[in-house]
Amino acid sequence: MKTGKRKDKHIKLATQKKNQFKKTNLLEEVELIHNPLAGFELSEIDTATSFLGEKFSFPLSVRPITGGTKKSFKFNKNIALACEKKGIGFSLGSMRTALENKNKIKYFKMRKFCPEIFLEANIGALELNKYSVQKIDSFLNEIQADAISVHLNPAQELMQNPKAKGFSKQFSNIKKFAEESSFPVIVKEVGNGISFETAKKLNSTKIKAIDVAGSGGTSFVKIDSALYSRKRLSEVFGEFGIPTAASVLMTKKASKKKIIASGGIRNGLEIAKSLILGADLAGIATPALIKAKKGEKAVEKLIEILEEELRISMFLCGAKNIQELKKKKAVLQNNLLEWNKP
Ligand SMILES: Cc1cc2nc3c(=O)[nH]c(=O)nc-3n(C[C@H](O)[C@H](O)[C@H](O)COP(=O)(O)O)c2cc1C
Repeated sequence: MKTGKRKDKHIKLATQKKNQFKKTNLLEEVELIHNPLAGFELSEIDTATSFLGEKFSFPLSVRPITGGTKKSFKFNKNIALACEKKGIGFSLGSMRTALENKNKIKYFKMRKFCPEIFLEANIGALELNKYSVQKIDSFLNEIQADAISVHLNPAQELMQNPKAKGFSKQFSNIKKFAEESSFPVIVKEVGNGISFETAKKLNSTKIKAIDVAGSGGTSFVKIDSALYSRKRLSEVFGEFGIPTAASVLMTKKASKKKIIASGGIRNGLEIAKSLILGADLAGIATPALIKAKKGEKAVEKLIEILEEELRISMFLCGAKNIQELKKKKAVLQNNLLEWNKP
C-alpha cells in the first residue's frame, strides 16, 4: 500500500473506538495529594514552561499524526493554527511521503500557520536506513522545523509486514543521526511504550528527549492489523505494550533526557500526574485529530479545556508553577507498583 494512502486510512481508523486500547495508561493508579490550604489564588498560577529552549504556555504538545497528502494538510493546518494561538508545541507526522516524492514537501509546510511555536518533524527509525542525514536535514530546513522525532514502531511495522527487516541497524542509525544532524532529536514510540532498557540504551546517544508514547490510548497494532487484514495478530498483540504511566517511571529512572508523556492522555489531571511522575511535557494525538476534523476552533477549545484542568489540578495540590508541580509527590497503586519494581 502506498504511504500516502496508508496515512489517509490511519486518519479514519484512529478515531474509531475499537482501535483504542481497552487497557488504560495506568494514570488512574497515580493519586495526587490534595492541599486545600494552598495560600494563593487560582489566577496566580503560572503554567508556562520551556522545552529544549522553547517557550510553551503550558506543558502540552500535539504529537505526530499525519502529513504528505492533501487531506493531511487540512488537518495539520487546523492543529498548527490552534497550537500557535494557544502557545503549545506541534509535530507533523512522518515525512516519509516527502522523502519518497519531493512534490509532497508542500503538504508539510506548516510554518506559515505557526510562526512562533516549537515545530517538530517526524521520521521512522527504519527510514534512517534509506536516507542520508543531509537529505533529512535539508527537508527540516525547508519546512523550518525546530526539531525532529524519530519513531520506533516495531509492533506496528510487523502488523504491516510480519517479515519486516532492518531493525538491527536502528540503534546505530539513531546514534549517528543525533551526532550529525544539526537539529535536536527526540526518540519516540507510537503507542507501545519505551522500557527501562531502551531508555538506558538511548543514554549513550546525543538525543535530547524521549516521548514514551505508551499504551492506553491509540493502538497502532489494532489500526495496522485492521488495514492489512491480520485478524489473528490483532487479537494476540492488540493490547501489547507498556502503559504510559509505567513507561514514564521507567524512562525517568533510566535516563536524564527530557521526557514527553503521551499515550492515552485525555485530560488536564493526567497532564499534571505525568509531570509529577517525571515528564517535562505531555502529548496528545487522537483527541487533537478528532477535533481537527471539525476545524481549528474545535482544536483550540480542546486545548483550552486541557489547560484549565491542568490549572485546577495544580491549584488542588498547591503548586503555583510547573517547577513546584514537578516536585510534588504522588501515591502509586496496584499494577503501577508492579511495573515500578526495581
Ligand atoms: C492517525 C495517527 C497517525 C500517527 N502517525 C504517526 C507518525 O507518523 N509518526 C509517529 O511518530 N507517531 C504517529 N502517531 C502516534 C502518535 O504520535 C502518538 O504517539 C500515539 O497516537 C499515542 O497518543 P494518543 O493515545 O493520544 O493518540 C500517529 C497517531 C495517529 C492517531
